[in-house]
Amino acid sequence: MKILVTGGTGYIGSHAVVALIDQGFDVVIIDNLSNSKQDVINAIGEICGKVPAFFAIDLADEVATRQFFKQHNDFDGIIHFAAYKAVGESVEKPLKYYHNNLFSLINILKNTEAGSGTNLVFSSSSTVYGNADILPVTENTPFKPAISPYGNTKKIAEEIIMDTVRSGWLHAISLRYFNPIGAHDSGLIGELPIGVPNNLVPYITQTATGKRDFLRVYGNDYDTPDGTPIRDYIHVVDLAKAHVVALNRIIGKKQKEPFEAFNLGTGKGYSVMEIIDTFEKITNTKLHYRIEERRPGDVTKIYADTTLANEELGWRTERGLENMLNTAWRWEQYLMEHDKDYFKKQ
Ligand code: UFG
Repeated sequence: MKILVTGGTGYIGSHAVVALIDQGFDVVIIDNLSNSKQDVINAIGEICGKVPAFFAIDLADEVATRQFFKQHNDFDGIIHFAAYKAVGESVEKPLKYYHNNLFSLINILKNTEAGSGTNLVFSSSSTVYGNADILPVTENTPFKPAISPYGNTKKIAEEIIMDTVRSGWLHAISLRYFNPIGAHDSGLIGELPIGVPNNLVPYITQTATGKRDFLRVYGNDYDTPDGTPIRDYIHVVDLAKAHVVALNRIIGKKQKEPFEAFNLGTGKGYSVMEIIDTFEKITNTKLHYRIEERRPGDVTKIYADTTLANEELGWRTERGLENMLNTAWRWEQYLMEHDKDYFKKQ
């Protein structure tokens, strides 16, 4: 079966492509390389023994997208990852985020309406729940106002997909990720933040190599056992596998409703200090960090109720925190060893 993966050279996309090829799918990638490198295609080839087809296209470009789908309209399914994802940047440049994240989705849907690509897995986020009142968060937890324009693009995208499903020709599953971390066991693919990382784990691994002087811990006066915020961290390889399961569910016509949403997390929350302590323990290093002011927009605590994904998808996470941090660390070391400008780059 032939699957289109948009954003397939990105962090989660590349791991999903590996999981798809492992399961015998024929994969075509579209990516505009705005936040990834084309080398990822070769790394995927090295891991899988098969190089996926690749097209450098900007899906927000209506003409280019139409041309692509004119030539390629025989997909059994589409997994749509391609999107901007930096929360802070989205606050400064909201239109950049609305333009890119929504036009790309609309262009894909408009061009597949008449074709065969009517099975869609959408890359969503726990951010659609906003600042949830009751934990753990289930799929029925009401959407609160989005905390950032980025979060709002995910929420609006889900609404666009739901309305399109109601119009009759689309089947879709939205996967709401909690905090994906870690990297492939090979150490050949992983998260590749351009510039200074926003997220905790890449910042930790870059501090451990010496690329960053110290980690800023954004507040230790939250209402949690050690005062630092709690998140549901999930291994990117576990997350990637859920996309294959979701795709098979749509293609195999196993959906209970033509639009379904699933939370993807482990159901377990860890605090920032627990992440730091575990990283120090497994790498036998001492991390330089400083306690600083709270970061605006951070919620105190969020973790998933994963019952629906476990029971309906029959999917479960297999990897624990130590494996997440070990693989993230191996990936950072790979980057350090293979990029001569590693320490020069911002
Ligand atoms: N943190 C630090 N120092 C850092 C980076 C992060 O202390 O340098 C803390 C944050 O304050 C937070 C925790 O580490 O408490 C996790 O922060 P991340 O930035 O790694 O992840 P977030 O939970 O903030 O962000 C995630 C996703 C976003 C999504 C958001 C929804 O990465 O895509 O959840 O709230 F929008």
